[in-house]
Amino acid sequence: MSLRLQLVALFTAVLAGTLLAATALGLRIAQGSVETEIRKRTDELAFATTVGLKKAGSDDELLSEELAATVRMHRGLLRAELTRQAALGIDAEFTVARSSPSGIDFTRTRGPAARTSTEVLEDPEAGRVVRVVMPFSDSRGGRARLVLLASLGEAQRLVAAERRALLQVALGASLFLVIAFWILLGRILIRRVSALEATMRAVEGGQLAVVAPGPAEGGDELAYLARGFNRMLAQIRGFNAELTRKIEDATAELTRKNRTLEELNELLVAARRDLTAKERLAALGQLAGTIAHELGNPLNALSGHLQLIARRTDVSDPAKAQVAIVNAEAQRMAQIIRRFLDQTRGFTPTAEEVPLGPLVDAALDLTLGTEARAKIQVTREVESGAVRTDPGLVRHLLTNLVANAIDAMPQGGRLDVRAHRDGPDLVLRVADSGVGMAPEVKRHIFEPFFTTKPKGKGTGLGLAICKEIARALKGRIDVESEPGRGSAFTVRFPAERVPS
Ligand SMILES: Nc1ncnc2c1ncn2[C@@H]1O[C@H](COP(=O)(O)OP(=O)(O)OP(=O)(O)O)[C@@H](O)[C@H]1O
Ligand SMILES: [Mg+2]
Repeated sequence: MSLRLQLVALFTAVLAGTLLAATALGLRIAQGSVETEIRKRTDELAFATTVGLKKAGSDDELLSEELAATVRMHRGLLRAELTRQAALGIDAEFTVARSSPSGIDFTRTRGPAARTSTEVLEDPEAGRVVRVVMPFSDSRGGRARLVLLASLGEAQRLVAAERRALLQVALGASLFLVIAFWILLGRILIRRVSALEATMRAVEGGQLAVVAPGPAEGGDELAYLARGFNRMLAQIRGFNAELTRKIEDATAELTRKNRTLEELNELLVAARRDLTAKERLAALGQLAGTIAHELGNPLNALSGHLQLIARRTDVSDPAKAQVAIVNAEAQRMAQIIRRFLDQTRGFTPTAEEVPLGPLVDAALDLTLGTEARAKIQVTREVESGAVRTDPGLVRHLLTNLVANAIDAMPQGGRLDVRAHRDGPDLVLRVADSGVGMAPEVKRHIFEPFFTTKPKGKGTGLGLAICKEIARALKGRIDVESEPGRGSAFTVRFPAERVPS
């Protein structure tokens, strides 16, 4: 049930209760006063009648006439009864003349002792009546008594009529008041309550920016309620903003942590791969050491013997010349083994002044054979001037990268070699338009012994050594590649410029 209906129902109940109580009380008072008036009038009539009866003497006919006249003349008087001592001196015998609108009726009876009284009683025929008893002495000096019975029906009729009128007025007034109350309630209360309710519904729907209408200060309880609601809304808005900020902060923190975790994970994977790479390189170092040991000693012995042969006087000069050549080759072999051993044991870079152009050209000359030059279009973009670095290691880097690029373009293509300085760094870039690499291949290329080339064609050591060299030079090596489109390797390491 709506608030308006509840209030109107309450108002109607209170109004009806009050009106009914007031009407009942008023009717009761009115009925009381009318009855009192009838009693008073009956009393006075009884007194006046006794005076008339005394005057009428002792003749029964006359007395009866008098009684009948009294009943006829007074509306509402139901009965008049005269009881007279029949014979003087005989106490017990009384004559009773009872006059009513239907006629007079005489009886003889023993009369009771009578006292003056006025009382209201219930008559079986006439309903509520007033009975006035008035003793007196008749004209003979005998004892007599007059009883008048007057109807209170008039009072009841009056009250009933009044009740009807009052009820009609009360009904009309109530109807008017209820309608007026309904309209006023709508104007004063319901419109504002509805506005407040609409605001609450808007908030329920998630619109926190709304404001309940009402004056900023003062006003009635509703205005106070609206202000309280607005204050609460402002607080909720504050909490909401605070909560959103905290959630955003927490999310950002989580994202940061996640990123850190991912980075750490990547580092871990890289470190693991590196470790395996190192282990393999170490194994390779041991293998190289064994080879050097196994091959180096016989080679040294061979070289010593060849030198002895060269010093012998019984050997002809042309033979000595051939022995010298064989000796030189043997020493070259020993040197190659030593270098290989050195490389697998780690690099210790030198710092020499190197002009960049000739360095790159030497690397290209070493790698690009006639066949490759025929099918590959080479672009070379090298910064002029010199830098301070290890030329051997740089050459090694370039030759490995260029060799891989050539292998990646069996049908020919474009090779782009660049060398330029970027801040304190020297950047070498070798790009090809060859077969490119799948992500799965790209992930492993820096691992020692990883190769996609057929047996006898590739050892899988080229890039692993390049990575070691880049690290020895305090730099890094990166690769970009797309299957079917080509690859680009970039090596970046610090190299001081030499002023020209
Ligand atoms: N420019 C490139 N284009 C496509 N794939 C490449 C390129 N460079 C390297 N690769 C891939 O990386 C693998 C490893 O190269 P890496 O130089 O370490 O060994 P390799 O060339 O196979 O053998 P090695 O260099 O010892 O002769 C190659 O087998 C090839 O699959
Ligand atoms: Mg290679």
